Amino acid sequence: MAIGETAEVSEAQIAVHWREEEYIQPSRRFTGQANASDPAIRERFAEENFPECFREYADLLSWDRYWHTTLDTSNPPFWRWFVGGRLNASYNCVDRHLETRPNQAALIWVPEPEAEATQAITYRELYRRVNAFASLLRDYCGLRTGDRVTFHLPMVPELPVAMLAAARLGIVHSQVFGGFSGNACGERIADSQSRVLVTMDGYYRSGELVDHKVKADEAVARAAELGQKVDRVLVFRRHPGEYASKTPMVEGRDVFVDDVIEEHQRAVVAPVSLPAEAPLFLMYTSGTTGRPKGAQHSIGGYLAYVTGTSKYYQDIHPGDTYWCMADIGWITGHSYIVYGPLSLGTTSVMYEGVPTYPDAGRPWRIAERLGVNIFHTAPTSIRMLRKVGPDEPAKYDYHFKHMTTVGEPIEPDVWRWYHEVVGKGEAAIVDTWWQTETGGFLGSTIPGLEPMKPGSCGPGALGIYPIVYDEEGNEVPRGSGKAGNICIRNPWPGIMQTVWGQPERFVQTYYQKYCRNPQSKDWHDWPYFAGDGAVQAADGYFRILGRVDDVINVAGHRLGTKELESASITVAEVAEAAAVPVIDELRGKAVEMYISLKPGFSAGADVEEKVVHAIESEIGKIARPKNVWIVPDMPKTRSGKIMRRVIAGISNFADVGDITTLANPEVVEQIKHHVQSEKVARGQVPRELSAQEMSELQAFGKAD
Ligand code: WTA
Repeated sequence: MAIGETAEVSEAQIAVHWREEEYIQPSRRFTGQANASDPAIRERFAEENFPECFREYADLLSWDRYWHTTLDTSNPPFWRWFVGGRLNASYNCVDRHLETRPNQAALIWVPEPEAEATQAITYRELYRRVNAFASLLRDYCGLRTGDRVTFHLPMVPELPVAMLAAARLGIVHSQVFGGFSGNACGERIADSQSRVLVTMDGYYRSGELVDHKVKADEAVARAAELGQKVDRVLVFRRHPGEYASKTPMVEGRDVFVDDVIEEHQRAVVAPVSLPAEAPLFLMYTSGTTGRPKGAQHSIGGYLAYVTGTSKYYQDIHPGDTYWCMADIGWITGHSYIVYGPLSLGTTSVMYEGVPTYPDAGRPWRIAERLGVNIFHTAPTSIRMLRKVGPDEPAKYDYHFKHMTTVGEPIEPDVWRWYHEVVGKGEAAIVDTWWQTETGGFLGSTIPGLEPMKPGSCGPGALGIYPIVYDEEGNEVPRGSGKAGNICIRNPWPGIMQTVWGQPERFVQTYYQKYCRNPQSKDWHDWPYFAGDGAVQAADGYFRILGRVDDVINVAGHRLGTKELESASITVAEVAEAAAVPVIDELRGKAVEMYISLKPGFSAGADVEEKVVHAIESEIGKIARPKNVWIVPDMPKTRSGKIMRRVIAGISNFADVGDITTLANPEVVEQIKHHVQSEKVARGQVPRELSAQEMSELQAFGKAD
């Protein structure tokens, strides 16, 4: 454990050198109207009231039958929430608002082309569209409760409509992020055994009408290779009646939705009353092996949790105009564009395109025109908007009462720009730490009750009791500012139910490391391992350091090193590949690939390009590496393991740590010389790393 020990000592030292940021108080105007304004709320959700405290969230929903058991822990760690209860998610997000606010906009969709009209979809219209699409899924596609359906849709209103239509029937939806490649989509289709794919011909991105249907053909082919036949592809048209793709429609398999929906337009499909623990959707995410993990979320627990946290942490009131700029293809969009906000009956804004298109004033024009008062985005967008338009927000007359940052650590400096310039010093900010697996927020301040601290997410969310462990499972002293692995001691309603089709992987990935007794039926013995490093300050606030496993967080998107490496070795010349994170000014982190070639091949730009192409086609453009380095050999341990941490140090011009235990320490100098002199030539020398960034790099691959 020599290496682990070194890392731990230096992390502790780094923590001491961190400057404690000052508290910033929310304005009186915000606190005066906040949903969570009674300080007793912390007591209501204190541990002695667990698990019954979560009734408060479940009571925000409309149940067909009330539950009898709040939490069943008889089969750890497969927790069951609100057992005996029955409900429907689509009913809760649509039907129940028809009486009180039929003419209020449920969704406002802003197309990327600025000349194209914005669409406001009222709750009444949403009800009609959801029913029509549900009828299509059931009567045209033959889908039934419990079947899975894969969506590969861009940011268009058809996506939430399709989700709510599936939810109406208890069909488990699996939306694959539109930017993922056809191959990545195909793998997820196969893993979830979907026989229906819903896609769109094209969508706008940076002014281009991108051909998206082409990916459906790749996806269906990859799924077939993996043994899953897709017999129906429903294709929405971005401009009904016109076809934006070059690929032909496949006879008998592909249909345009606008051609077949006509006879379903007036259908009324009764929402199916489902058990609280029935699955609502799958959301695939990356892990430490190549196979994606389908995080399975429940209807009752998940919907209760996102509704409760939307109310208290997003401070959503029905009359607000709420805009979360995330993509619905990620968990943030599922929980905090669709399910949470619509369950509360608010107006949720969605935007099709790139925030800086056609210029850096775009988001602020949208906010001004629509009267957005709650804004939600990620550090990567904040950094980009600051870089290209630092003075733009001041030019527009909008006022946010509340803003969110999510997805990656935010630098205090970037946080302050967000607060002062975007929020005009008026908005309360929450830095929400959570994950695909957790359904909703794990760490955040309560916006009207707890002060903000730039760079820290805050304490555990209501009813969430975090703890920091060292590698051996000892608790890192609370409030010590010493780094360790952050875990959650208790179950909560939003936690995933399992990894779809891989229950053993669910146990192994999230619980094995710190489970005290695998026989125990007591939840206290089953802390949830989040896979993030963190420190806790004396005031109880957590600062998240980033992943401790083989996951690289690029612009808030999780990429598994194994996925990147498997894609690279599909190139015939490549013998071995290693992916490492490199600190990036805008995206937080970018990927660099290190490649060694099979004997008889020589390095060249053509191989580098093939690697880039392979990654884009296996995963998607978001995974495109910043550099591909072809090296004579990888630094390895005596047992043959590639030391990613050493090469990450080289890529970041940081300390490579102790290399005396390597089998081939001499290659380190060689690689370092080659890579760093090339980076100097390319003008890619990073500025000096902050304590937090250094700490993050040390955490990377610590599980190796
Ligand atoms: C990181 C996104 C720091 C973290 C909701 C986590 C964060 C991973 C924050 C999950 C935050 C998320 N501060 N880091 N506020 N929020 N992360 O599954 O490393 O796409 O494990 O869920 O993002 O990413 P995912």
